[in-house]
Order: sequence, then structure tokens, then C-alpha cells
Amino acid sequence: MGRVRDVVDFYDRHPISEAQVLAALARRGRARAPLTADDLFAFDQDHYGGLAAVDTLARLAGVGASTRVLDLCAGLGGPARFLASRRSCQVVALELNAGRAAGTARLTAMVGLQHRVRVVRGDATRLPFRGGRFDACLSQEALLHIDDKGAVLREARRVLTPGGRLAFTDWVARPALGDGERRRLREWMAATTLQTLDAYRALLGAAGFGAVGVEDLADEWRAVLRARLEMFRAMREDTVARLGEARYAEYDQLYAFFVGLVEAGKLGGGRFSATAM
Ligand SMILES: C[S@@+](CC[C@H](N)C(=O)[O-])C[C@H]1O[C@@H](n2cnc3c(N)ncnc32)[C@H](O)[C@@H]1O
Repeated sequence: MGRVRDVVDFYDRHPISEAQVLAALARRGRARAPLTADDLFAFDQDHYGGLAAVDTLARLAGVGASTRVLDLCAGLGGPARFLASRRSCQVVALELNAGRAAGTARLTAMVGLQHRVRVVRGDATRLPFRGGRFDACLSQEALLHIDDKGAVLREARRVLTPGGRLAFTDWVARPALGDGERRRLREWMAATTLQTLDAYRALLGAAGFGAVGVEDLADEWRAVLRARLEMFRAMREDTVARLGEARYAEYDQLYAFFVGLVEAGKLGGGRFSATAM
């Protein structure tokens, strides 16, 4: 439970938030205009690689208009709205953090997608859905926060129909990652039990998935993360105005530490796809 509290706190204090999205829209003079999902995409994707990364997962999971999609750990709902608007599918966006879940529902209604994206507050290790309810399950940069990754994968398998597809990306540990660095990632970013690519492959098999695909994203993420850090720093004035100097400095320090680990080859990313057997 301590870990769950840590994750909730981390995202309650996170600079990327509904308020930040609304402030960015206001700066562009779009606060009151009729809005579409596209107006939010520059601000509502809390993962690496932007819309192209969501699109790749959707392709791997075979998402089309009739696919019933579950977005696990949906954040502010950016990927769910992208899928609903581009692929015309129904998406359930599951999110643990109450503020983020409520923000997702409000942002989704603001762009008129509430009939395609349903927000459910819940824990990915105990999904509040019956078995076989979904055809595809996606997730981005979130399992890193969950102790029992096997439990999430077993739950994803349970709620997928046989033949359904899972596709997700996550941080992966590389051999040089030290215990002290793991500890700091846990304390600073609520990141826990980071897996290697091979360990994830084994967990997927044990959870009842076959046809497992694994891609190493370490090289791709190095450039993406450096650019994200620069973008965060470019928004310094706005972040300080909203959250104060101390919060800006705190996130700058932890984010730079994280990006440094990726650039040093101690931490990487993986893209995984698999079929529910
Ligand atoms: C880095 S954000 C990614 C958000 C979203 N996937 C995106 O790409 O924009 C990670 C999200 O996972 C959520 N999360 C962490 N642990 C969770 C859990 N056990 N169940 C559901 N959501 C969880 C966090 O609250 C946070 O919103």
C-alpha cells in the first residue's frame, strides 16, 4: 500500500497535469473555443515518442473501429483520446490517481469524446472488469510504478478475449543499473521492480501470453528523453509560476538524474506485444 501512496503522491505533485493542459490552451487563446482532441495532443501525452508511439502500439494490437480497447494506467487520457479519434474505437481508460481520472473525464468531455472514452478509476493489479471484456490492452510508461508486474499481466490476460492483443512500453533495467540508483528511482520517481527485457518476456509467458514480441527502445529513447528534458526546462517560467521554484527544481533534478541513467546505458525502454492464449 505504501508504494501505491507514493505513486499517487508523485502524480498529485507532477508538473504535467490537467491544470497545465488548460493553462497551455489559455496561452494559445483556445480556452473557450470549441475544441477537438487534436488541440490537446501537444500537452496530454505523458510518455515517450508522442503520438507515433501510441500509433505503433495500436498497430501491434490490431486496433480498429470495432476493437474494444483497455488503456491501462491512462494518465490524463491523451492516448485514449488519440485512439478514439483516429481509430474510432471504444476505449476504457483505467487510472489509479483520482485527480488524473477526474481530469481525464473533464478533458474528454471538453473535446466531445465522452461517448467513445470511458474513464474508470482503479488499480491495474485488480481490474474491475469481467473476463474477456476487451480485444486489445495497451499501456505506456506506467508498469514501472507497479511492484507486482506479474499481477498486472495476469489481469490483462484475464480481461482480454482469447486471441486478444497486449502491447505496451515500459522502462527496462540494464545490467549496469546499481542498487543505489534503483533505490533513488524508487524514492524520487516511485519506480519499482524494474525488469530486464528477458525478464519481461518470461513474465508474459507465465501470465498466459504467446507470440511475444520484444523491441529494445534504448537508442530511440536517449534522444527522445534529452529533448523532453530540454522542453521541460524551456517551460520553466510557466512551471515556476504555477507550482513554485522548489517544485520546478525538484522535478528538474529527478528528471535529469533519470535521463542521465538512460544516456549512460543503465536504463532503457522496451516495447512488448503478445497474444492472449
Ligand atoms: C507516466 S504516466 C503515463 C500516462 C499515460 N499512459 C500516457 O502515456 O499519457 C503513468 C500513469 O500510471 C498511473 N498508475 C500508476 N500505477 C497504477 C496502477 N497500479 N493502476 C492504475 N494506474 C496506475 C499513474 O497514476 C500515472 O497516471
